[in-house]
Amino acid sequence: MKTSHRIYFQNAAHMRPLDDRSVDLVVTSPPYPMIAMWDEVFCSQDAAIGRLLKGGDGMAAFERMHRRLDRVWDELRRVVKPGGIVCINIGDATRTLKENFRLYPNHARTLQYLQQLGFHALPDILWRKQTNAPNKFMGSGMLPAGAYVTLEHEYILVLRKGGKRVFQTAAQQQNRRESAFFWEERNAWFSDVWFDLKGSRQALGRPEVRARSGAFPFELAYRLICMYSVKGDLVLDPFAGTGTTLAAAMAGARNSIGFEIDPGLAGEATALLSATGDFANARIHARLARHMDFCTARAQAAKPFKHTNVHYGFPVITAQEKQLLLNDLQTVVACGSNAFEATYALAPQARFCQSGDAPGPQAVSAHAPVPGSCSPRLSEPRGTSTCQMPLFSEPAKSALAVRPPAEAGDYHSAKP
Ligand SMILES: C[S@@+](CC[C@H](N)C(=O)[O-])C[C@H]1O[C@@H](n2cnc3c(N)ncnc32)[C@H](O)[C@@H]1O
Repeated sequence: MKTSHRIYFQNAAHMRPLDDRSVDLVVTSPPYPMIAMWDEVFCSQDAAIGRLLKGGDGMAAFERMHRRLDRVWDELRRVVKPGGIVCINIGDATRTLKENFRLYPNHARTLQYLQQLGFHALPDILWRKQTNAPNKFMGSGMLPAGAYVTLEHEYILVLRKGGKRVFQTAAQQQNRRESAFFWEERNAWFSDVWFDLKGSRQALGRPEVRARSGAFPFELAYRLICMYSVKGDLVLDPFAGTGTTLAAAMAGARNSIGFEIDPGLAGEATALLSATGDFANARIHARLARHMDFCTARAQAAKPFKHTNVHYGFPVITAQEKQLLLNDLQTVVACGSNAFEATYALAPQARFCQSGDAPGPQAVSAHAPVPGSCSPRLSEPRGTSTCQMPLFSEPAKSALAVRPPAEAGDYHSAKP
């Protein structure tokens, strides 16, 4: 199994490399209108925005910024397949202009426009951020009525182009079954509030690019990709930034394409993609280990399992998980400018298999060390595994020092 990944450093208002109806899933986060760190990106595309901000006309500036994003949403209507899903991570903004404080509802404006384009809104997700400053307040403090609620959440809007996707052929149906997720993951991932995702480290460390990346956590993209696409699909991020969505697609055995207007981010993106193998496999193994823990806890509580996974031989709750198979990444190879190809193992990871001499759920735990394991642990310094299998290059290992996928630190959007 092979996937390909490429970032085009150009404006996503014209995604010419993409054919009509070619994309299965979009996972993206645009620059947020009226968040000051993105003013320059919008002003460089429409000089009138700068004048409106200076003059204090916030709502007019807000609308013109959204019109820039609308051009990209227009392109999504062209490139997304019927039945394809669009996930947009966006936060509202608060800002004071000429002493006038107000909320700029980016999520509502975006949702409304995509619906006008013909996309159907599905239930969305509130990403509740873990805050470092729970007592922070805005406005008049303890005195009514000029105090303001602190925004500590963002949205993940979920839309579909038309009706449900159909998996027609036997091969498509089998691929869908192998792309399944665990029952216990479904229960967490399909909650409408996500509390457990930390913001991603954002410092770029290269002031000539810009101070902060606006990156979202690897886990956010990885989860959405597992939820809304199958292996071999094409995932698009029109606002690719440092390439997090492409790295997550690679980890999930999906193809990916990104567009990014700022060529200064090429180094960040290629470093991340070359390094994806190690942390992707760590994430995959953590999913399997967590399932083993779940099985152990359920067995100890004398709760029954009705089904067995055919690849791993471990128990699963539903018949839909019987064919589930998570493929380890084997190689990541650069091929051309800002492009990569990845290959995957087709066999299940022996240490998670319950047949023969392989350890069962009692022997493999997300928390306990695994004797003789050749797989990198999540807690190990990355790139130090003694595994004979992964074939990642030295540049890929050194790139791990550049940006770990999901660390605590600054949050995704800058607060004004
Ligand atoms: C919020 S950031 C995305 C960060 C990304 N999710 C990541 O994890 O690194 C938005 C990105 O969109 C880019 N951008 C803004 N307007 C664009 C356009 N019209 N076409 C392509 N990229 C654009 C910005 O330069 C910025 O890097």
